[in-house]
Amino acid sequence: MRQEHIWDADAARRYDTPGTGVFAPEVLGPTVDRLAELAGGGQALELAIGTGRVAIPLAERGVPVTGVELSTAMVDVLRTKVDEAAIPVVVGDMATAHVPGRFTLVYLVYNTISNLLTQAEQVACFRNAARHLMPGGRFVIELWVPELRTLPPGQQATVFTAEPGYLGVDTDDVLEQRVVSHHVTFGEGEGREARISRSPHRYAWPSELDLMAQLAGASWRTGRRTGPALPSPRSPGRTSRSTASLRHADSGRDRRRADRRLLRLTSVAGRTPRRR
Ligand SMILES: C[S@@+](CC[C@H](N)C(=O)[O-])C[C@H]1O[C@@H](n2cnc3c(N)ncnc32)[C@H](O)[C@@H]1O
Repeated sequence: MRQEHIWDADAARRYDTPGTGVFAPEVLGPTVDRLAELAGGGQALELAIGTGRVAIPLAERGVPVTGVELSTAMVDVLRTKVDEAAIPVVVGDMATAHVPGRFTLVYLVYNTISNLLTQAEQVACFRNAARHLMPGGRFVIELWVPELRTLPPGQQATVFTAEPGYLGVDTDDVLEQRVVSHHVTFGEGEGREARISRSPHRYAWPSELDLMAQLAGASWRTGRRTGPALPSPRSPGRTSRSTASLRHADSGRDRRRADRRLLRLTSVAGRTPRRR
């Protein structure tokens, strides 16, 4: 399953849910406030910008935003809302794509680093983020904390949501750190037919993100905060916990190596809205 096939025209057409789920003002408002603050008056780069869910309100807040995105179908939807002059996008892989310019903020939200299915690709993504940052810049990651405690010994699958009209099942491969989320969505009414989709992810704990950050040339002081409860896009009645770890670059570190840039990372981990 390649990401280009997952994020096709059909997925792009269904992605936006204006005003609800991860498009709800109570989700986007605090997110954009925090990112604008972290950008500190500079420019922002969103890796995997999608249809501009976060980038558009951030740009409207006055932060110049550029994007990287693999799926041309997602960019096509973005382009129905803003043009290239408002938000330029480089079509490519966030682990390797080069974007002209230097940024005070690079961010990668909605669990999307998990779409890179190997550790090597995730490390490359951190390094790519670091390459685009100005000294003292910040890399922000939003990623759920793996919930392997819900996986009973000897079993390979857990139901993460069961509610009228929707069933979500994760299958886990604990050796490869992979999870495949299976979504079964029934239409309105009593019909028997459902739409089924699935998406593969590589999960990582906050400690592994710390190591990836170190490999990208950063050093950290760590703090923690617990964020507000967020609604799940799949289960509007259910709230989810969000925890953030703040790691600040140590400005006294050796900067001789070209890629040893000061990097600040805000890791927003926890039970963020369900990955798609
Ligand atoms: C869950 S969506 C998030 C979109 C947007 N950041 C948001 O928060 O709404 C995941 C996005 O990641 C993109 N994507 C997946 N793998 C990628 C890669 N290797 N490089 C760039 N974009 C990628 C997909 O095409 C999709 O648009």
